[in-house]
Amino acid sequence: MKISTSRVIAAAAAFAFVAGAASCGKDVPNAEQSSQSYTIAGGEVTSTQPASEETTSSGEETEDTTSTTTASGVVVGEPRVSGITLSYTSADILVGQTLTYPLVSENIPEVWTSSDEEIATVDSVGNITGKSEGTCTIRVVSADDSKLGAEVKVNVKKGSGVEVNNGVTYIDGILVANKSYSLPESYNPGGLTPDTYAAFQELVQAAANDGISIYLSSGFRSYELQSQIYNNYVSTYGKETADTFSARPGYSEHQTGMAIDVNIVDDSFIGTPEAIWIEAHCEEFGFILRYPYGKQEVTGYKYEPWHIRYIGKENAKALRAEADKRDDVNLTLEEYLGIDSYYH
Ligand code: DAL
Ligand code: ZN
Repeated sequence: MKISTSRVIAAAAAFAFVAGAASCGKDVPNAEQSSQSYTIAGGEVTSTQPASEETTSSGEETEDTTSTTTASGVVVGEPRVSGITLSYTSADILVGQTLTYPLVSENIPEVWTSSDEEIATVDSVGNITGKSEGTCTIRVVSADDSKLGAEVKVNVKKGSGVEVNNGVTYIDGILVANKSYSLPESYNPGGLTPDTYAAFQELVQAAANDGISIYLSSGFRSYELQSQIYNNYVSTYGKETADTFSARPGYSEHQTGMAIDVNIVDDSFIGTPEAIWIEAHCEEFGFILRYPYGKQEVTGYKYEPWHIRYIGKENAKALRAEADKRDDVNLTLEEYLGIDSYYH
């Protein structure tokens, strides 16, 4: 029986991150270090018996000897690549980052492709660059045998610039207050921020021009006031229920001076012309509907059509563009920034 020669290729676990979006230490790209390969045998191969198989940690090729026989008993005698082994099969990277992925061997011509170039691209030698949030698959195949390949699942996250100043967290310049990111008890802007107030005045005027009456029901709330409100709800409904609609002290957006509850602050507001107007227009004035319908698992709160949050016109516009891109009208701030919201 003729013995064919095949090669087992081991990729060196060499990867590096190019400077760029790695502005924060939080979202360190993370590659799962699992060595895995697969081979889709071409033709009618029914048996492959490696006589020896070696790999080197430096990624050099080693050879083994394999006999390959077709179903009809014909020995395939040509040397062929028997497997492509990658040093990892999944990786988390940030938008704008490049994961250098030096595969293997110059002896094996490689063809790299991405399942979704809008999410991540890959160049001819395997460098993977995050383009936008999402997951996709980077695939490498042998140029000699496209059935022979390996895949890396890539999870691209939004590059978030996280800054914490005096206990207040800003992500991409947006002050965040939710169940994961609290505010110090002492944080007290003394009322609505001037920008928030001015933008709200503008919104109220525009609504009036459309025959819609919008008014402020609850604006800035200090830590102490939120404490009273939350504790009252806990006494009435119990903690578990209260946590679905009321923030614990130190976790409320109202303490930022950038959140406003408009008009009727209960479910009877749902579906009113005022609620519909707010949902359709608040972003034009730099506000977002902070707890949209169907996103309780993400925001940590039930639908609140009355609660708007000022993030500035540019940010509101960018969030809307992202929502359109993802075909999700109810995209939340958490999803936009790639953060969570739960009591840790
Ligand atoms: N109702 C919102 C979640 C708050 O209490 O801040
Ligand atoms: Zn509110």
